[in-house]
Amino acid sequence: MGRANILPMKTLVIGGNGFIGCHLVDHLLNSGHSVRVIDRYPSRFREPLPAVDYQIGDLGNHGEIAAAVKDIDWVFHLAYTTLPQTSNDDPVYDIRSNIADSVQLFQECRQSNVKKVIFISSGGTVYGVPKTSPIKEDHTTEPICSYGITKLAIEKYLYLFYTQWGLDYVVLRFSNPYGVLQNPRAKQGVIGVFLGAAAEGKPINIFGDGETVRDYIYVTDAARALVCAAEYQPGPSDPRIFNIGAGRGHSLNEIVDEIKKNIDRPVTVNYQPGRPVDVPSNVLDIKLAEKHLQWSAQTELGAGLKETWNWITSLNTA
Ligand SMILES: NC(=O)c1ccc[n+]([C@@H]2O[C@H](COP(=O)([O-])OP(=O)(O)OC[C@H]3O[C@@H](n4cnc5c(N)ncnc54)[C@H](O)[C@@H]3O)[C@@H](O)[C@H]2O)c1
Repeated sequence: MGRANILPMKTLVIGGNGFIGCHLVDHLLNSGHSVRVIDRYPSRFREPLPAVDYQIGDLGNHGEIAAAVKDIDWVFHLAYTTLPQTSNDDPVYDIRSNIADSVQLFQECRQSNVKKVIFISSGGTVYGVPKTSPIKEDHTTEPICSYGITKLAIEKYLYLFYTQWGLDYVVLRFSNPYGVLQNPRAKQGVIGVFLGAAAEGKPINIFGDGETVRDYIYVTDAARALVCAAEYQPGPSDPRIFNIGAGRGHSLNEIVDEIKKNIDRPVTVNYQPGRPVDVPSNVLDIKLAEKHLQWSAQTELGAGLKETWNWITSLNTA
């Protein structure tokens, strides 16, 4: 079964004030759905939208989550306390804050008769060192960072809740989203960080020789995939786990070349020693999502870079 005509739904976006969350909220509103957001913090980069029911709360606070999921049809689970690069520093914290609180959330969803949970997993980490490229969803999963393991464990709990208690779900294993509203000073998101450095006239830092290959997806394409996943009406044996990326890779050196083509400032690069959690190449096969979710990535890298650059420079001059 594929997607069908969908009535307006009541949606909850957990982590909806973050980078991807804000774009998802926009896309849900544009698709006619009503939106509640629960997040620890307000958005750092934009004002609240009048159409959204914002709540400040924590995934780890069961009372707040139980209240937030009440009368909700679709729950988008975007809140995460760790990053791939740093999760190995404290795996116990990763397990406690992400797995336990997610499973508690699924209990609340089950009790509130939520129709579907949509979870963002990680195409960049759950597979580990790829044996084939592009990587299909049935590739072996041998993560080399705790973040990948906790994402995978949460995927398994979603399967458990679906098979045992009928709570439906879709998992999207994202590649590397980039774009407007991604914090250029964050530890994640090389395109935003590279553009942020260029905007401040600083050198771009590359870990390794710059030949590390990644699959980059523009954030509005990623947000659209989340809504397609919610609208997707799978039968019992249809797939529920999908890769979401551009389906093609670029080395960091190619990203720098593309940045040079699209911005009007000098760009310098500072090469630093490689990091152990960085697999050499990660490119996702996105055919399953194209077929079942009727979704595809539409934004070319150059266009996405330009839009992101315009936003970052507007921040710097504000
Ligand atoms: N950005 C990426 O490169 C990328 C890649 C793959 C997967 N993901 C996943 O996508 C999701 C969203 O990522 P993002 O890039 O928008 O991150 P983000 O940090 O910009 O947004 C996450 C939001 O969740 C909120 N949050 C975190 N922990 C919370 C908690 N316990 N309770 C309530 N709110 C909490 C934060 O305040 C933040 O607003 C995450 O699950 C992340 O792991 C991101």
